[in-house]
Amino acid sequence: MSSQQRRTAKITAIGKYLPDKILSNFDLEKMVDTTDEWIWSRTGIRERHLVRDGEATSHMATQAALDLLRKRQLDPKKIDCIIVATVTPDMFFPATACLVQNNLGATRAWGFDLSAACSGFLFALDTGARMIESGQYSNVLVIGADTMSAILDYTDRATCVLFGDGAGAVLLEPCEEGTEGIIDSILRCDGSGAEYLYMEGGGSLLPPTAETVANKQHFLVQDGRAVFKYAVKWMADISAEVAERNSLTSQDIRLFIPHQANKRIIDASAERLGLTEDQLLSNIDRYANTTAATIPLGMADAVEDGRLQPGDNVILAAFGAGFTWGGMYIRWSKIH
Ligand code: UT7
Repeated sequence: MSSQQRRTAKITAIGKYLPDKILSNFDLEKMVDTTDEWIWSRTGIRERHLVRDGEATSHMATQAALDLLRKRQLDPKKIDCIIVATVTPDMFFPATACLVQNNLGATRAWGFDLSAACSGFLFALDTGARMIESGQYSNVLVIGADTMSAILDYTDRATCVLFGDGAGAVLLEPCEEGTEGIIDSILRCDGSGAEYLYMEGGGSLLPPTAETVANKQHFLVQDGRAVFKYAVKWMADISAEVAERNSLTSQDIRLFIPHQANKRIIDASAERLGLTEDQLLSNIDRYANTTAATIPLGMADAVEDGRLQPGDNVILAAFGAGFTWGGMYIRWSKIH
């Protein structure tokens, strides 16, 4: 790349980690008043992975990063920055990114956590890309990792069936602008949606007490119908907006990788883009909603399955608590 050319960021390696413990819909039938039929038909979920006692977000994030570093054959000392998107950090502080940095031996890196729920990975990927574009950083590790099982009430059938644990990681490196990599993104938030999806206990507004525990205020709360309504509209709208802004027709898009919260939301967004089944990545049946991890896990699966080649046009989209949402256009690069 000459000094005249502007640089942007491309994804050069992907890693993933899913805990080996699996909780199926049939297991959940024994725990709450639900059925495999209800969960499958309303959400598209069959099973989800859960961490074991003593494992948390930094563990999964580290494993995903190690998978990536192994594939890229990259010395961890070459990593400049680590961004961990999560709403389930090991603890309030230090940041999970610091724990991952130490686990990896990434001794030259700085890092931070980014909180944007299900859009967290997309927000982190965009942030990492801008860091590469600045010219100051050349190896940015972006991780989406969530231990949703830590904040779910396993007596509440409306929420506990929906989520799983997992982590995905990508490496961003520089490339020449316009040729490949992250071409465009549109990101949004609207805090008026905060009342529909939240966990209120344990923060500065409502510090933990015996009462907050008794009131189950340390668990995720969701108004499913309201979130569904907004998710269907805004994820579809932003996917279409990013495609249109880049003059991409349905034929131009090789793969659409949306956030995996509900198969009906995924299908509605794909339909809006005019895509067929083979242009859509859906793995919600095996992983459920892993919050910040769904999109990197989707990318990892697409690469493993040989569904993406250099030059392919890929659209990413997400919607989640906040509300937060976004769409991104990537021209795919060679992945290690
Ligand atoms: O990733 C973050 C963003 N989150 C999302 O995008 C999630 C968006 N929302 C959804 O995906 C859906 O709204 C849900 C999957 C959460 C719920 O599906 P729904 O079709 O909207 O169901 P509902 O909430 O309207 O509930 C329908 C019925 C209710 O019973 P009644 O009131 O009709 O008698 C619920 O009590 O289904 C009942 N129900 C269940 N039944 C069996 C709720 N959860 C369950 C369950 N098993 N697990």
